[in-house]
Formats: sequence, structure tokens, C-alpha cells
Amino acid sequence: MSSKSLAPVDAAKAAKDPQTVAQRGPITAPALVRFKREGQPIVMVTAYDATFGRLIDEAGVDVILVGDSLGMVMQGHPHTLEVTLEHMIYHTRCVQRVVQTALIVADLPFMSYQVSAEQALLSAGRLIQEGGAAAVKLEGGGPEREAAIRRIVAAGIPVMGHLGLTPQSVHQFGGFRVQARENEAAERLRRDALGIQEAGAFALVIEGVPAALAREVSESLEIPTIGIGAGVGCDGQVLVIQDLLGLEDRFKPRFVKRYADLAQTVRDAVGAYADEVRGRDFPGDEHSFSGSGKRAPRRAVAAGGGYGPK
Ligand code: KIV
Repeated sequence: MSSKSLAPVDAAKAAKDPQTVAQRGPITAPALVRFKREGQPIVMVTAYDATFGRLIDEAGVDVILVGDSLGMVMQGHPHTLEVTLEHMIYHTRCVQRVVQTALIVADLPFMSYQVSAEQALLSAGRLIQEGGAAAVKLEGGGPEREAAIRRIVAAGIPVMGHLGLTPQSVHQFGGFRVQARENEAAERLRRDALGIQEAGAFALVIEGVPAALAREVSESLEIPTIGIGAGVGCDGQVLVIQDLLGLEDRFKPRFVKRYADLAQTVRDAVGAYADEVRGRDFPGDEHSFSGSGKRAPRRAVAAGGGYGPK
């Protein structure tokens, strides 16, 4: 194991130290703008449930994105288009219950903000009020998106923009393809990025665009950019947790780096369990409880929940 791959373990130790947690967090939207000014790279990872939300927070990331990528990695769809606002609220709530330090950003899903600025504000309000997010993210640029961002920001809700390969436009792009390779599209991206900043967004995700363009846009903005498939010139990086951990091992896009091979670990562990159940090797005595077989008195059940000392 390289010293690099040990870093998250050290970060987890640091994050558990109460003083460090107090010093670090909770991370806020304005803090990310400060990170950029101070040259501190921003670490963002997705999470959709309490188990991963807690572990990722303990590893010391800055931002947890409850992304609508949950349509693919949690629901098994080929894209994000079937994710609803109710789904987003549910998963955001699951993550929010356990996260103590990281900033929680929730995605506005397809058709929850495109109709009007008023619809965008109402949807964003639900992610904050019912989901417990501290900020929302929406895709795309241009006058309509800028109006939506202005309206949400005016209500006191921090907004993160998202440009480039915006997955909710997958049908318009004809697939998940690198964007802004031609001059005209690159120029539009530069314009949209400035417009999003001027509308009041506190950060911008740049996905699937040439690295040189992402670096140029990052250098031109005061708000931080967070890249995915956009090179190292962005002010931070985001990965989907299933990709980062190697839980998705059917395909590996070029922009993904796997920091673990949990897909094989899961198959091996569950396979070992299955072998032991079939061989009657599990549970052993050490996993079993002793007793007369008589019903426990009510008080004992309440105290131990049925799983107290044997
Ligand atoms: O939904 C998501 O996970 C995202 C990130 C990949 C940026 O939007």
C-alpha cells in the first residue's frame, strides 16, 4: 500500500479528534470561497446513505454531495433523469442525520427547477427544509438558470452551479461525451461560468471538459470550481463514492481513479459467509447466546434489546 493511500486513514483519525472537528467544521459555503483564496484544494465526494455519509465525513472531506447520480448507483438506471425531488429529500435526510462536519449539498433533480425560477426556489426550499441540506446544486447556464440561481440565493440558500457534461442533458448530448471541445461551446462555457458567479453561486462543478479550458475558467473566477473529468487545474475535485471505492467495476471511465477494490472485497466476504452458512460453520458458539430457552422477563429484554451480554 502506498503512503498516499494511507492518507484517508490519518484524516479519519484527525476528524475524530474533537478539537480538530471543532477547528474544521462545520464547513460552510462561504468557507469554500475562502479555501480558494487561500489556495486550499476542496475535496468533495458523493454519499446517499447514513453508512457512507458517516464514514466519508469521518475521513475529513469538505463537501458531501447527495448527487442525483443516485439514480445510477443506488437505483440502477442508466442515467439520472428518473430521480425525483422526493428521492433527493429522502437520501439527503439519510446523510444529514449522521454528518457533523462536511457541507451537505443536494442536487436539484431533473424537472424540479427548469420550469421557472419560482419552481426552482420551491424545490430548493424543500431540500433545505425537509432534506436538511445546507446548499443545493443545479445544472446548466444561461439567462434562465441565472434567474433561478438569483431567486434561490435571494431566499438565503447557497447554490452550486454545474457546467460541461451536465448529466441531465444526456439525451441532448447524444450520450455521456466530453463537452466544450469546439471554440463556440468553450466560449459559451466561459460566458455561463461568469454568469453563474454573477448570479450569486458560491461554487461551480465543471464536468467532462478539456483540462486546459477548466483551468482557464477556474483562474478567471473568484468562486471555486470543483472538477470531475476536468483536470487538475480546478480548485477542487469530486468523485462518485462507488467509483472511488471500486464498488462499480463493470466499467471505468478515464476520469475515475479507484482508491480501493471493494467490489471484489464484497464478493469475497459474502462468498465466505455463504460457504460458512452452507457448511454450518456460522454461527459459531461465540456468535450464539446461552440460556434456558425460556422466555426472558420483560425487564431483561428492554435492557438488552435481546442482544445484551450472554
Ligand atoms: O450527481 C452527481 O454525483 C454529480 C457529480 C458527479 C458532480 O453531479
